[in-house]
Amino acid sequence: MKMTSINVVVKSIQKVIGRGPHQLHEPLFFGKEMNYLKNTINQNSVSSTGEYVNKFEKKIKDYTKAKFGVAVVNGTQAIYISLKACGVKKDDEVLVPALTFVGTVNAISYLGAKPHFVDSQIKNFGIDCSKLEKYLNKIAKFRGRKCINKLTGKVIKAIIPVHVFGHPCNIQSIIEIAKKFNLIVVEDAAEALGSFYKNKHLGTFGDVGCFSFNGNKIITAGGGGMVITNKKKLAKKIKHLTTTAKLKHKWEYIHDEIGYNFRMPNLNAALGLAQFEKIHVFLKAKRVLFKKYLNVFNNVKGISLYKEPKNASSNYWLQTLILNKNNSSLKNKILKESHKKLIYIRPVWKLISELKPYKKKQKMNLSGAKEIYNRIINIPSSQSLILK
Ligand SMILES: Cc1ncc(COP(=O)(O)O)c(C=O)c1O
Repeated sequence: MKMTSINVVVKSIQKVIGRGPHQLHEPLFFGKEMNYLKNTINQNSVSSTGEYVNKFEKKIKDYTKAKFGVAVVNGTQAIYISLKACGVKKDDEVLVPALTFVGTVNAISYLGAKPHFVDSQIKNFGIDCSKLEKYLNKIAKFRGRKCINKLTGKVIKAIIPVHVFGHPCNIQSIIEIAKKFNLIVVEDAAEALGSFYKNKHLGTFGDVGCFSFNGNKIITAGGGGMVITNKKKLAKKIKHLTTTAKLKHKWEYIHDEIGYNFRMPNLNAALGLAQFEKIHVFLKAKRVLFKKYLNVFNNVKGISLYKEPKNASSNYWLQTLILNKNNSSLKNKILKESHKKLIYIRPVWKLISELKPYKKKQKMNLSGAKEIYNRIINIPSSQSLILK
């Protein structure tokens, strides 16, 4: 692609959303946010008591058709506490894509467990299952029911599939691999509220699923997260651990283990609930934006717009361009030109396995993830681009 074509890409984005400045993703408030927030103040219940946490949990669990939902402070701690409640311990290995947000991997490290990086595929930005299965067939052995990494002697305890940008990874194949190798599945659905695969909400395939309600997600609670699961014992344990492990008593402070103050404040839940009430409007807007970009990029050579996988209904949290060729210098030129025009497009995360704290961790060949890093660019995706 010549310099002019780089301009074509930037101009094509502008055709859809107009001149900058445009951030990658901004929240939009036009529902009952202010009413609910005022209520928390009027009721003097901005923190650990109040009606909104239960209401928000119920809405999310009903919407996703999970049996239980536990609201927490953010998506990272949702993953952390899920791994802990599922029994992941110090020195256990956890399979995780190198292509994810750093929080996914930090959650493993907080436990003293070891991330073991696996590859992703351009098809849906999720774990490359056939590569993973071949790899595990080679490096794993069983000691009783335990899956052991022959190279390190450590137990491979869990896997964290990530639904990148709200698009489903090959979750059914991952569940099968997890069964074969006796792995716990904690789904990182941080970006995937409103996304379904074969009409089943993402986050409900594994043992637990985790959402984020950070300010850049499809709905926001300011900050926040939620764990969903169909397992009653697990949900109870997560609720207990995230609320300082406090036993019910009218006045005494009795805590029966070392818990965490990870509960979502009522103030955040109020915001989250008001946002959730608009999820259908947001999802529709995301699709309208996708179609507008598609109309324009259908005519641009050398680049295409990513479309949800077969059998999926994605939330299209972020709209993604894919370069036809593995060409990071072209990607960088497009990023530079676009930023000059105040359109703040972004690459995907640098591979976590290349970051300083994680360079020496176990990994398989990561050629797919590297290719994704070189080929994709996320473009402005806020619902406000349609709804304003
Ligand atoms: C894929 C992924 N995992 C985990 C997280 C962590 O969520 P939070 O920022 O709420 O801690 C995020 C979002 O930021 C994410 O995008």
